[in-house]
Amino acid sequence: MNWLKGFQGKIRVKEPLKKHTTFKIGGGADYFLQPKDCSDLQFVLRQAKKRKIPLAVIGAGSNILAADKALRLAVISLSSAYFKNIRAEKNRIFASSGVSLAALLKEARRRSLGGVEFLSGIPGTVGGALAMNAGAWGRSIGDLVEEVRVMDYNGLVSFLKKADCKFGYRCGIDGRYIILGAKLRLKKMSKRKIEELSGEFVLKRKASQDQSLPNAGCIFKNPPGSSAGRLIDACGLKGRTLGKALISRRHANFFLARKGAKAEDILGLMRLARDEVKKKFNIALEPEIKIWD
Ligand code: EPU
Repeated sequence: MNWLKGFQGKIRVKEPLKKHTTFKIGGGADYFLQPKDCSDLQFVLRQAKKRKIPLAVIGAGSNILAADKALRLAVISLSSAYFKNIRAEKNRIFASSGVSLAALLKEARRRSLGGVEFLSGIPGTVGGALAMNAGAWGRSIGDLVEEVRVMDYNGLVSFLKKADCKFGYRCGIDGRYIILGAKLRLKKMSKRKIEELSGEFVLKRKASQDQSLPNAGCIFKNPPGSSAGRLIDACGLKGRTLGKALISRRHANFFLARKGAKAEDILGLMRLARDEVKKKFNIALEPEIKIWD
């Protein structure tokens, strides 16, 4: 703990990651840190580098499968008030990394700014969404970006213009950076239209996806021109269980965690789905979720 002397934010030791992931799975991380502001974050980066302590950044934990064992990690959560700042100017929104997508949508609607409705119902933060270029219905958060404010692991702050971000399908900001926030460009839209569009997206999501139990959204990326869900489904794997984990009966790319499910159970189902899809279609599925082990 000595290495954190002078840190101003919140410190938790041996923090169970299951409290911070939507899967509700994950053993204890050595440290769970909520820096107070940018200079506090820089302090952590400096200290961790000196002591060779591995770091990982967490947002809403909606795309992470954390191992059951204790993890020798300091997890950084940009969730203090400083990192939840959001403001609008004309048709632009400046959102810090810890702002939830729900809060972003709310602020956009309040300001009669549209174009973000496709993110409705995605559990995540602005930082997490930018890290993976989250999206739905053919659109991604990267489409809205004007610039992203980042910090490298030496503590240097800079701005990446949209072109520097090289957004692709589920491919967001380079992992050498910690995302601090973004300037997003929206468009004027009536509140009624915004509500109508958001409602439609939420309904579409409810109709096809499975939120009946803790999960991390889609487990695998869609291979070019295909759908991981359709392929796993065609292998007859819907409803398959391992321990307390199961492949959703509604959407085969959703894996669900019943109470007591282990990361190992989810990983076992992932191996099964990969092997079967490879055998039947000769397609190698790539995980979309991040595995921390
Ligand atoms: N399908 C099946 N069986 C299944 C699941 C799907 O046959 O078990 C078929 C559907 O009938 C449809 C096709 O596969 O014809 C595609 O399914 P869906 O429309 O549900 O979309 P998806 O490709 O599975 C992608 C994203 C979702 C995003 C939706 C809507 C990926 C990996 N997934 O899902 O994103 O919400 O489109 O745009 O790109 C996520 O990233 O976590 C996620 C949920």
